[in-house]
Formats: sequence, C-alpha cells, structure tokens
Amino acid sequence: MESPFKPNILHGKVSLITGGGSGIGFEISTQFGKHGASVAIMGRRRGVLDSAVSALQSLGIPAVGFEGDVRKQEDAKRVVESTVKHFGQLDILVNAAAGNFLVSAEDLSPNGFRTVMDIDSVGTFTMCHEALNYLKKGGKCRSSATGGTIMNISATLHYTASWYQIHVSAAKAAVDALTRNLALEWGTDYDIRVNGIAPGPISDTPGMSKLAPEEINSKARDYTPLYRLGEKWDIAMAALYLASDAGKYVNGTTLIVDGGLWLSRPHHLPKESVKQLSRAVEKRSRSGPVGVPNRSKL
Ligand code: HXC
Repeated sequence: MESPFKPNILHGKVSLITGGGSGIGFEISTQFGKHGASVAIMGRRRGVLDSAVSALQSLGIPAVGFEGDVRKQEDAKRVVESTVKHFGQLDILVNAAAGNFLVSAEDLSPNGFRTVMDIDSVGTFTMCHEALNYLKKGGKCRSSATGGTIMNISATLHYTASWYQIHVSAAKAAVDALTRNLALEWGTDYDIRVNGIAPGPISDTPGMSKLAPEEINSKARDYTPLYRLGEKWDIAMAALYLASDAGKYVNGTTLIVDGGLWLSRPHHLPKESVKQLSRAVEKRSRSGPVGVPNRSKL
C-alpha cells in the first residue's frame, strides 16, 4: 500500500531499529527508509540482518546491520556507537526487539519469565540508556535544538489479562512505564520525545505465528471491531507519524493500533434482538413495582 505521507518527512534523520531485520521492525525500517531516513538495524542473526540490509539497499535506502543482543549492555553500546560512526548521528531509536512464547503461568520457569523481561523491558531501557548521549543533541538548556525521539513497541496484553502471556504482559507493562517516565524526564531535560506503539494481532509476523495458530487467527477476526487482522504497514504508518514532525507535540503516549480489539467483548445478543428484548423488559417493569416481577408473567 502506498504511504499517505510525503516521501521526505524523515529526510536527514538517522534511525536505529532493534529487531529491525524481521517482522514489524523490518517494515518500520523499510518505511523509515522510504521516507528519507538512514537505517541501522540490530539483531542477533547475521543471516537475517544481511538479507534485510540487501532488501533495504535495493530500494535505495542507506542501510547497515549490526549484530547484537539487547540483553547485553556492551552490545547495545557498541551498536549505538557503530551507528553514529557509520551515519554521523542518531535521531530515532525504535525498540522493536522482543521475545515470546506461549506458556501457562504454572509451566513457566522463573528463568523463562526473566528471559522475556530481559529482552523486552531491560533491553529497551539499556538501548535508551546507551542512546541518550546521542539523542540529546544540544539539550533544551543549552541550545534551541530539539532532541531525538524514541519509540517502544509494546502490546495490549496487560491492559486486562491474557492467557499464557504472564511474562510478556509483565514485560510490556514495564515497557509502557519506561515510555512514560522517560517522556517525563528526557522530554523535560532534552526535548526528547518518547512514545510507544501497541500493535494488535498483525498478520505475517513472528509474533502471530508463535502465539496464534490459524484456528486462533480466525477467532480474532470474529472479535475485532474492524473485522480484520492488522498489517505491518499499519504499525509502520503509526511509527512514521510519531517519528515525524506530525507528532511533535506527542510525548509519553502509547498509540494502540489494534482495530479496537482490546475493547472487544463477547457479543451475546444480536443487535436485532436488543430492541425487542429491551422493550419487553421496560413493559414488564412498568406493569409492576421495580424489582418485583409481574405475577401474570410468572
Ligand atoms: C516454556 C520456554 C519456552 C517455551 C523458552 N522457554 N521457550 N518455556 N515454553 N516455549 C524458557 C526456557 O526453558 C528457559 O528457561 C528460558 O525460557 C530461556 O530459554 P532459551 O531458549 O535459553 O532462551 P533464548 O535462546 O535466549 O531465546 C529467547 C526466547 C526465544 C524468547 C525463548 O523465543 C527468542 O529468541 N525469541 C525472539 C524472537 C521472538 O520471540 N519474536 C516474537 C516476538 S512476539 P529454563 O528455566 O528452562 O532455563 C511479541 C509480540 C507480543 O513480542 C505481543 C503479542 C500480541
């Protein structure tokens, strides 16, 4: 699908995207590049990085891949520094690296819980921590230059509760807390905007294939108000909005891009039956004191 944004909205910006070699991260990398940004991607698998970089370069996007694990502070530091060395600056950090698997709380080991917290929550903080020096630019106190921006990919699982996702729910709740707290502190000190995106079920992603086999996919379609799964493109467009000047007054929010899924509830009563039932209940309650059933109906 064609982007509704002008192709130069990120012109001159340098972005670093963790988990940028596949899934949602790769689509964000592609769209950032198509809108003028240089793109550095970070990931653990050399082969995935290499093919992602080739694909980006074939579109004319200045792109580079750096191997690294967000759980290791030395990797985070090295990749941030390599990005700045390669492109001369850093303006946009996207934390898209994540880990997940379906498991009941009873069967999840503390190490399994910790592993996902380490990737999603601690990894996000570590990347932000290492990138700060480059994102702060002049800093509000020292010059009029605005700082860079950070975007954390989250989820909606923890807004209520999610089956077999206790580890990811906890990890993404922490990510949302990071988004708000960094927005407050770094927005005030350095004009750095920090936002998040909470995708719903997005087709053709590692998350979807791990968490939702086909039988669950079709159920999700039934419950989603917009009656379809999202596309990676939908998330990338939200990222472009937040990263560009269109989002210049947006700070500390996590934008939900899920077609309204998290609001959905089981649909017990068809709309056609509501009016009839509702009128009948009204009629009953008028013909007797409220709360006392009409004897003739019993
Ligand atoms: C139960 C599991 C498990 C499983 C791993 N563990 N897989 N427990 N069920 N299926 C446990 C292990 O037993 C171990 O605990 C601990 O987790 C660490 O496992 P390792 O395999 O050693 O970890 P590692 O090699 O570091 O791999 C991390 C990983 C892996 C998260 C397990 O899946 C990974 O690298 N994932 C990255 C890619 C990914 O998942 N992408 C999808 C993101 S989807 P013990 O106690 O045995 O030592 C996403 C969407 C969220 O984020 C929102 C959806 C709506």
